[in-house]
Amino acid sequence: MNGSWHPHLWHPTTQVCTAPSPLPVRSGRGAVLELADGRQLIDAISSWWVTLHGHGEPAIAAAIGRQAQDLEQVIFANFSHAPAEKLATALSERSGLERLFFSDNGSTAVEVALKIAWQWWHNRGEPRQRLIAFAGAYHGDTVGAMAVGARSLFTAAYDPLLFDVARVDWPQCSWDDPEPLARESAALAALEQALATPTAAVILEPLIQGASGMAMVRPAFLQAVQRRVRAAGALLIADEVMTGFGRTGHLFACQRAGIAPDLMALSKGLTGGFLPMGVTLASERLYQGFISADPSATFFHGHSFTANPLGCAAALASLELLEARAERYQGFEGRHRPLLEGLRCHPRVRRARCLGTVAAFDVAVTQPGYLNGVGLEIQRHCLEAGVYLRPLGHVVYLLPPLCLSDDQLERCYTAISRALDALS
Ligand SMILES: Cc1ncc(COP(=O)(O)O)c(C=O)c1O
Repeated sequence: MNGSWHPHLWHPTTQVCTAPSPLPVRSGRGAVLELADGRQLIDAISSWWVTLHGHGEPAIAAAIGRQAQDLEQVIFANFSHAPAEKLATALSERSGLERLFFSDNGSTAVEVALKIAWQWWHNRGEPRQRLIAFAGAYHGDTVGAMAVGARSLFTAAYDPLLFDVARVDWPQCSWDDPEPLARESAALAALEQALATPTAAVILEPLIQGASGMAMVRPAFLQAVQRRVRAAGALLIADEVMTGFGRTGHLFACQRAGIAPDLMALSKGLTGGFLPMGVTLASERLYQGFISADPSATFFHGHSFTANPLGCAAALASLELLEARAERYQGFEGRHRPLLEGLRCHPRVRRARCLGTVAAFDVAVTQPGYLNGVGLEIQRHCLEAGVYLRPLGHVVYLLPPLCLSDDQLERCYTAISRALDALS
């Protein structure tokens, strides 16, 4: 089914020696990608979690087209424009965070959050040196985002470049283990200990750590984390790059978790998956900490494409669609559950879990982890059945676009079930 390696391209997160060559894709409509030879694949992971409604969503394509006729790009340092202002108002009203700073992707949205938190303390004349993150976290591939992410195979080569962070366990739970209270208590005790050193900020992926293997925690745990962070006077950063825009069944995972962060990073589904854009939302209190006659208090950060008007137009159209069809993201969990329940009895399935549009399970293997080849084996079987998955090693998950039909969802589960049966 694969194509060939292009002599001038370098693909992301790909070892050419061992990876299958890339699939030549021609078009995308709804949940389906069409390959150059006409074969069709259900995109069951929303193309790295970005395609929110579906590929080629006409309302977003039209909004981008209209905006391109008026203003495609402008430097945002001396200018402002209606699409950016409307988007800032809309996201501020929905997140409860008053200020919006634009960047280009999830990693930069996280970098901006970290830098705002760090400099806010600096500007107050009370610099705080500690950042706290969770074991298993993934916040992106730029150097600062890697530093707060878990140390792993992906970061090993850069270790000397990565600043130190205090690390707290992430007490994940699943249907088989719904009340991981002992692990939660241990993590909260470790958090308290880490917070004893004056802390600038604690960063977390609310409710689901994505890249580490769809590791879910209970809202009650995050509420307890927030209480401790507040008591220590530290800032709370929610990285909603994956979880934002309905992925957990609420517009933002923080709402489902019952927490209110000081900073929130968003990207991926922000533009419906059409254009690369990141935003960092911050409270007014943080913004005010940068207002001063002293130029050194300025937030000296900016990207060439800050507030790109096409991205803003796409994001506004996407948000409008999301809210007009809220039942799609609110109801997805109810569609996953019976099908996942069916898979749960399979002898190779462990720790089935589901939240909003995300369903996941571990495959029983002797050596779990990202390098376990079982994911590739399942991917291969599912591709043959017309379903594109990208398991995280031994963790198989579905994170489909919201337009996925019941029939397509069933096809995904059937493909997975048959792939499990065929495992060596
Ligand atoms: C939680 C989280 N934060 C940050 C990122 C980085 O986003 P990007 O790949 O757009 O830089 C990702 C990407 O998967 C993510 O899942």
